Amino acid sequence: MAQTQILHVDPYQPDPDTIAVAAAAIAGGQLVAFPTETVYGLGANAFDPAAVERIFTAKQRPWTDPLIVHLATVSHLDRVVQDMPAALIGLAERFWPGPLTLVLCRGRSVAPNVSAGRNTVAVRVPAHPVAHALLVACDLPIAAPSANLFSRPSPTTAQHVLDDLDGRVEVILDGGTATIGLESTVVDLTQTPPVLLRPGGVPAELLLDLLPDLRVPADPMVGAEGEATASPGMLLKHYAPHAAVVLLRGNALSARALALTILNLLHNAGRRVGLLVPDEEFSLYVGLHAEVVGMGPSTDLLAVARYLFARLRELDSLGVDVILAREVAAGGLGTAIRDRLFRAAEGKILDADAPVDLGNWLTPLLK
Ligand code: TXA
Ligand code: MG
Repeated sequence: MAQTQILHVDPYQPDPDTIAVAAAAIAGGQLVAFPTETVYGLGANAFDPAAVERIFTAKQRPWTDPLIVHLATVSHLDRVVQDMPAALIGLAERFWPGPLTLVLCRGRSVAPNVSAGRNTVAVRVPAHPVAHALLVACDLPIAAPSANLFSRPSPTTAQHVLDDLDGRVEVILDGGTATIGLESTVVDLTQTPPVLLRPGGVPAELLLDLLPDLRVPADPMVGAEGEATASPGMLLKHYAPHAAVVLLRGNALSARALALTILNLLHNAGRRVGLLVPDEEFSLYVGLHAEVVGMGPSTDLLAVARYLFARLRELDSLGVDVILAREVAAGGLGTAIRDRLFRAAEGKILDADAPVDLGNWLTPLLK
């Protein structure tokens, strides 16, 4: 096991000497966790299959789930991809650097395990100054998934990375809290028409200008298990805290009434409950037998997205067994927030405005 070294850097003007230490670690086949504008990544040299293998081991990630390759600039694309579809240039000009990942044909130098053996590779140019400085300093493409243990909420601070990966990563660059807080949007350009594989930091609505034929799977974006293979990372159980998560759908007052009923049943059974609610509903839940955490005002999706994973981790650290979370409406960044909550809940949704068989629902939560 590695000794984890934490290096603090200014998120806007990272010190070149510190970045050089991290760049040397990447060049030497080691793992470096670094901030991006979306979430923290767990990076390794994308040309080095042994280094890439260590990412999978450190995260306990299935070998079948491919990684995203990060580049310093668009001009480095030819180091990692084979051909450039017509739509690529416009998308790159408009959204890079930024939270958009494009799946393209894999170049020969990219370690095959980056792509889990596929002939495609997912690529993005991150906008975070620390990620950019690291990529420039090592002059290598960096393969990096989110720097969490497999199926845990993605890390948005260096502390989250340390909580999951202490002793499993050589260097953590601590550049503060990730700005967007949710992962990049993933679009597969090798399919015709192109397909949205994961909603993320760039809302699909913005992509339609340049990709009018983009196939956007129905919301929520979880198909049958078989469908999950198009983007293996889109498994149902993902981004999950230790506690069981249940989503509450419906208007504020009926959701409160249902939450109260569930809360009493769980409380009487000795279970600790957490509530994740929009700030404007917070006052409806004070004084209850529950840990209540505000998710931000539902009119401020940037704030909700930025701290969503941190709040799920916070509820875990409060020791709750069950988290009741209010569903978030689709549209803009809301689609990605909704998707992450849906996966954290492994698809469990209770509609407060419809008849519910609570016994059926609660039995598994009481086990
Ligand atoms: O914002 C982000 O994308 C962050 C930061 C670190 O860049 N990275 C990230 O990586 O979220 P990860 O590994 O947690 O998610 C990558 C997603 C997965 O859903 C994976 O299946 C998909 O991208 N993916 C990667 N390569 C692919 C490929 N060749 N074909 C289809 N899907 C791919
Ligand atoms: Mg991930």
